[in-house]
Amino acid sequence: MAPMASTKSVSEQRADLDKAPEDVAAMFDVVAPRYDITNDLLSLGMVFVWRKATRRALDLGQGDLVLDVAAGTGTSSAHLQKTGATVIALDLSEGMIEVGRSRHPDIEFVLGSATDLPFDNDTFDAVTISYGIRNIDDVPRALAEFYRVTRPGGRLVICEFSKPNDIVKPPYDLYMNQVAPLIAKVASPAGAAYDYLSESIDDWYDQKTLGLLMQRAGWRHVAYRNQTFGAVAIHRGFKPGSRPHSEPQADLATNLTADLSMGRQTGRKIFVS
Ligand SMILES: C[S@@+](CC[C@H](N)C(=O)[O-])C[C@H]1O[C@@H](n2cnc3c(N)ncnc32)[C@H](O)[C@@H]1O
Repeated sequence: MAPMASTKSVSEQRADLDKAPEDVAAMFDVVAPRYDITNDLLSLGMVFVWRKATRRALDLGQGDLVLDVAAGTGTSSAHLQKTGATVIALDLSEGMIEVGRSRHPDIEFVLGSATDLPFDNDTFDAVTISYGIRNIDDVPRALAEFYRVTRPGGRLVICEFSKPNDIVKPPYDLYMNQVAPLIAKVASPAGAAYDYLSESIDDWYDQKTLGLLMQRAGWRHVAYRNQTFGAVAIHRGFKPGSRPHSEPQADLATNLTADLSMGRQTGRKIFVS
């Protein structure tokens, strides 16, 4: 992928709500070194609970091959790897991937876009994305890409900020609009980029609409579970059909990891068959 240029200075490095991929990638390049600590602080530690719930919804087993889209620094991927699954971590931001590779040398990182995944059809037992889909400029296309690369019978799990219920909404809004930006400015030298966080959450779909978009992309048995009164929602859907997880899948995981390492060295686009 060609490096993406941005005309913005570091101090104003934040994406707009049109979410041009080059702006989004540039913003995450800048926040990368302090991303995880800022995230932990901003979520008041709740991100650990939400990551556990995401892992539970994925229901991964030894030998499963899972694609973690918008994996960032690989923190979400590392949580999934604990299940014994093989995790491929894909992200658009070279800066986030660089931090990820240094922290998690055992995880395979791939530079790429959620809307044009560099994988063959029916490759993964599961696809997942945590706090990433809100940043994507073409959500229906990304959902269709997730569907294409998931094997029949496989699942998609999306963890994303959502719409909290009416009771907690006033304190939640106060926190997101007044307190969180201050925490971000202290925790991250690129704190201004975090203004984008509350704006993009406000602008994001509610639980039911995201579920409908998943159904439109072909996902079936779509359901969601609210976390922390709906501040976050975890959606899950299944690709119709069945191809039971089996030993050949484990081989595929090994081959895919080998192919990806080669691809990283040569910079070529990877297709797995
Ligand atoms: C908030 S971080 C989430 C990182 C990680 N999943 C986690 O749970 O901590 C969002 C990530 O989405 C990535 N991203 C945004 N748009 C993307 C796209 N179109 N394709 C792939 N990654 C994208 C960004 O580069 C960033 O690393």
